[in-house]
Amino acid sequence: MLILNKTAGVFSKPSKRNMYEFLRSFNFHSGKLFLHKLVLGIETSCDDTAAAVVDETGNVLGEAIHSQTEVHLKTGGIIPPVAQQLHRENIQRIVQEALSASKVSPSELSAIATTIKPGLALSLGVGLSFSLQLVDQLKKPFIPIHHMEAHALTIRLTNKVEFPFLVLLISGGHCLLALVRGVSDFLLLGKSLDIAPGDMLDKVARRLSLIKHPECSTMSGGKAIEHLAKQGNKLHFDFKPPMQRARNCDFSFSGLHHVIDKMIMQKEKEEGVEKGQILSSAADIAAAVQHTIACHIAKRTHRAILFCKQRDLLCQSNAVLVVSGGVASNLYIRKALEIVTDATQCTLLCPPPRLCTDNGIMIAWNGVERLRAGLGILHSTEGIRYEPKCPLGADISKEVGEAAIKVPRLKMKI
Ligand code: KG4
Ligand code: ZN
Repeated sequence: MLILNKTAGVFSKPSKRNMYEFLRSFNFHSGKLFLHKLVLGIETSCDDTAAAVVDETGNVLGEAIHSQTEVHLKTGGIIPPVAQQLHRENIQRIVQEALSASKVSPSELSAIATTIKPGLALSLGVGLSFSLQLVDQLKKPFIPIHHMEAHALTIRLTNKVEFPFLVLLISGGHCLLALVRGVSDFLLLGKSLDIAPGDMLDKVARRLSLIKHPECSTMSGGKAIEHLAKQGNKLHFDFKPPMQRARNCDFSFSGLHHVIDKMIMQKEKEEGVEKGQILSSAADIAAAVQHTIACHIAKRTHRAILFCKQRDLLCQSNAVLVVSGGVASNLYIRKALEIVTDATQCTLLCPPPRLCTDNGIMIAWNGVERLRAGLGILHSTEGIRYEPKCPLGADISKEVGEAAIKVPRLKMKI
């Protein structure tokens, strides 16, 4: 494990003593009798260092998170070595805070669950090394977690949702549609062929210099676009939703991003505005971008629902669509999805915003789900590695494309 060696001012491998000291810092013993199994979840796959303790019934006993957003907003994107350093600086404190808040002593844990895939290699490495050291010292089982599976199953912590259900994950790093048939049984119906929608919104917001906008300076790119879009007219720009002819459930955002970039350049010329200053048409552009993305996401999701219904893959009496990820907090996009679920007689469910974005609770909960199902619980961590790239489930996107389902046009009156 790598931790900050303060005297030397460099990162170094920690000694076993460091971990003993960390464990000794828990000088409390709760004295409580925990009737349920307890899982510590640790998440470091991207730019959030997060940990939580969750019990078998879904009670969140303690959680802590350190967000790097502010740092990355300043540099205009995530720089992996910076993210790694911040994870190293914070992981011990965050795990300690989650455990202390839970009043659970490390010895009372049933297992330690940690994200090992997919994500940024340098970030995943910090969480995994720390966890392996902890597992070794505590002699606890280790549960490796797939980050996207954890996002997909979070809804089962907050709502009574049975398998199977459809999930749409949209964030800065993810964009996929999958059928969830069990704790570790996923069918991938489609994914972004290039960048994720949040990534695109962040890039557009940066290009529009929204960080300089007095109302948006502390907001993520996606949130800033949603905020500004309310003041704009989406009809002033006509961006075409991507992939209209491809009758599959894949997504694409980089072509649209390129078109928007060109449009912004043209507007800067027309308005005599220098790059880096805010265009008078920024709100109209934000509104049109948001609308176009919402229509694209809604259409692909609509097709996924129709495909699942055609193949009888969803519960007939109560078909459920779960939407999660940072972009899922966008109310305009949610409204577009609601139009789709209303038209297809599905129930639309979203976890609360704090569980939509990366967090330790979803990792601990995934550990609980796996513990209950007896899936992927390791008593030896020999040879365990993180995997920066790792698909979700069995990829049937080709079959979805071959079905070439024509999606009926819906009026997107949002
Ligand atoms: O799930 P998340 O916290 O991190 C990962 O990307 O994994 O999602 C962050 C992304 C960012 O791209 C951010 O711009 C976007 O979610 N986002 C939004 C909104 N709030 C955050 N996008 C659209 N509308 C929002 N209200
Ligand atoms: Zn995520």
